[in-house]
Amino acid sequence: MKIRPEALEDHQKITELVAVAYQGAEESTLVDALRPDAHLSLVAEDEGEIVGHALLSPLEAPFAAGALAPLSVAPLWQGQGIGGALVREVCRLAPCDAIFLRGDPAFYGRFGFRADLAAGYACVFAGPFFLVKPLRDIPATGRVLYPRAFSAAGSSGPR
Ligand SMILES: CC(C)(COP(=O)(O)OP(=O)(O)OC[C@H]1O[C@@H](n2cnc3c(N)ncnc32)[C@H](O)[C@@H]1OP(=O)(O)O)[C@@H](O)C(=O)NCCC(=O)NCCS
Repeated sequence: MKIRPEALEDHQKITELVAVAYQGAEESTLVDALRPDAHLSLVAEDEGEIVGHALLSPLEAPFAAGALAPLSVAPLWQGQGIGGALVREVCRLAPCDAIFLRGDPAFYGRFGFRADLAAGYACVFAGPFFLVKPLRDIPATGRVLYPRAFSAAGSSGPR
C-alpha cells in the first residue's frame, strides 16, 4: 500500500470510494466541490486499487489552518491502519500551522488531535467532536471559518 497525491484519472474511483465509505453521495459531492482549492488530496493505493482517500482544505483563521475532511477507507480495507497512515501523511505534508476536523476523539486522539485545544475557537462546528492538531505555535483563540461547500453540500459537518 502506498500513499500518493491523487491523479486526474483517480477522480471517479475516489467518488465511488467516498460514497461507499460514507454510505451516501453527500461526501463525494463535498470532495468534488472542495477539490479545486484543496491543499492535499491523497489516495492510498494497493496494487492499482484506490482503497483510501483524504482531503485537506484551507480554512479561514487567524493563522494558516486546514480542514481534514472527508477521510475514507473502503469498507473491506478498514481496520488495517490505512486511515491512520492517511492522517499521518496529511499531518506531515500539510502547509498549515494547524489542522482542524470534526471527528471521533477516540480515533483522532491517537494522532494528536484534541478537543480541549479546539474549544478555544469560534466555529459553527464547535463542540466535543471539533478537534485541532497544532503543527506549530498558534494562538489559543480565534474564529475558524469552513469553506462554503461544507454547508452548500448539505453536509452535516466536516467529517
Ligand atoms: C474512520 C476510517 C477512515 C478509519 O480508517 P481505518 O483504515 O479503518 O483506520 P485504521 O485501521 O488506521 O484504525 C483503526 C482503528 O480506528 C478505530 N476506529 C475506526 N473508526 C472509528 C471511529 N469512527 N471512531 C472511533 N474509532 C474508530 C478502530 O476501532 C481501530 O481501533 P484499534 O486500532 O484500537 O483497533 C474508516 O473506518 C472509514 O472510512 N469510515 C467511514 C467514513 C468515516 O466515518 N470517516 C471518518 C469520519 S470522522
